[in-house]
Amino acid sequence: MNQIPLVDLKAAHAEVAQELRAGFDRVLADTAFIGGEEVRAFEREYAAFAGVGHCVGVANGTDALELALRASGVGVGDEVVLPANTFIATAGAVARIGARPVLVDCVPDTLLMDPQAALDAVGPATRAVVPVHLYGQCAPAAELAAALPAHAALVEDAAQSQGAERQGRTPGSGGIAATSFYPGKNLGAYGDAGAVVTDDEEKADLVRALANHGGTAKYRHDVAGFNSRLDGLQAVVLRAKLARLADGNAARRAAAARYDGMLADLVGAGRLTLPVTEQGNVHVWHLYVVRVSGADRDAVVGKLNAEGIGAGVHYPAPVHLTPAFAHLGHGRGDFPHAEQAAERMLSLPLFPQITAAQQQRVVDALTDALR
Ligand SMILES: Cc1ncc(COP(=O)(O)O)c(C=O)c1O
Repeated sequence: MNQIPLVDLKAAHAEVAQELRAGFDRVLADTAFIGGEEVRAFEREYAAFAGVGHCVGVANGTDALELALRASGVGVGDEVVLPANTFIATAGAVARIGARPVLVDCVPDTLLMDPQAALDAVGPATRAVVPVHLYGQCAPAAELAAALPAHAALVEDAAQSQGAERQGRTPGSGGIAATSFYPGKNLGAYGDAGAVVTDDEEKADLVRALANHGGTAKYRHDVAGFNSRLDGLQAVVLRAKLARLADGNAARRAAAARYDGMLADLVGAGRLTLPVTEQGNVHVWHLYVVRVSGADRDAVVGKLNAEGIGAGVHYPAPVHLTPAFAHLGHGRGDFPHAEQAAERMLSLPLFPQITAAQQQRVVDALTDALR
C-alpha cells in the first residue's frame, strides 16, 4: 500500500540532496562543526527572511523560547501567560526557568490563544505573555504588545510559523520570537535546531551570550549561561531549505485550499469543521487541522492510519490536562475550547510536495472513516 505520510521528509530531502553534499564538504574541510561561517551566513539569511534585525541560531526551539524569555527578564517565580492549546514545550520552557505558566483558553474557530483572556490573566507578577502562532498562522501579537503593561514583555512562540505574517508583520519584528527547526517544521533541520529572532540588539547579544555559557568573549563570562549552539552541518541544511521555503509555503497554501474544496461535502453534512484563517493573516499551513463531529476521533485516526495515511493529533491533551502540569491545579472544564478541540481535532497530511491525487485519497479515506 502506498503510504501518505503526515510530512514527507524524503521528498523534501530529494530537492536539496545535491546541494547539501557540497555544503557538508565545505564544513568538513573547515572542521567548523559548531558556529562558523555557515552558521553566521544562515543567521543573516534567516533574519532577512524573517524581516527582523537579528537571528541567533541555537540548539532547538525549546531552548530558543527559554533564551528569549530569559533575555526578556523572566526569572524564578515570575508568571508567564500562555495558551492551554499548544505543544507542551511552550510551558516546558517557562517551567525550566523556574517561572510559573499561567494558562488561558483559545478562541474556538482558529484555536489560537484568546487575546482578551491573556490580558485578563496579566497580574502584578506577570513578566511575559507568549502568543503561540499555532499550525502556521499568527496570533494577535502586535495587538497584545500594545495592550500589555510595561512590566510584561511579549515573547512569541513562532515554532510553527516560519514565513507567516499578520497584517504585514512577521513574528519577532519590533520584539522577540523563538522558532524551532525540528525536522518536521516548515523549515526543518536534520536534527534539532532553533533560533531566536529579534529587532532588539541588546536582547540578541544577551541570547548569544546565554547560549554560549554566558560568554561575551572567549573565556569571559559575565552571566551564567548554558550550552545551546547551532551546528555548522545543520546550518548547511537550513540554508538550502530556506532558499526554498517561500515556494514551499505557497505550495502548502495551495494544498490547503484544495483540501477546503475537497472537504466541502463533509462540512455540509455536519461531519467536519475546517481550519479558519483570520483576516489579515498569511498562513503557512504547518498543519492542516480539521475537527470531527459526532465521531470518535481516535477511531477515525486509527482507520486513516490503517489505510497508510499519516494523520496525527496536535495535540491530544491541552497543557493543563497533562500530568506534567497537574500541579498548576486546573481540572477539566477550566479551558473548554481547548478541551473540546483536543477531543475532536485531527491533522491531515500536508507538505509542499503533496499531490491532488494524494489529497483525494486522504479525503476518500476520511469520508469512509466518518461513515
Ligand atoms: C509550538 C511549539 N513550541 C515549541 C516547540 C519546541 O521546539 P523544539 O522541539 O525544537 O524544542 C515546538 C516544536 O516542537 C512547537 O511546535
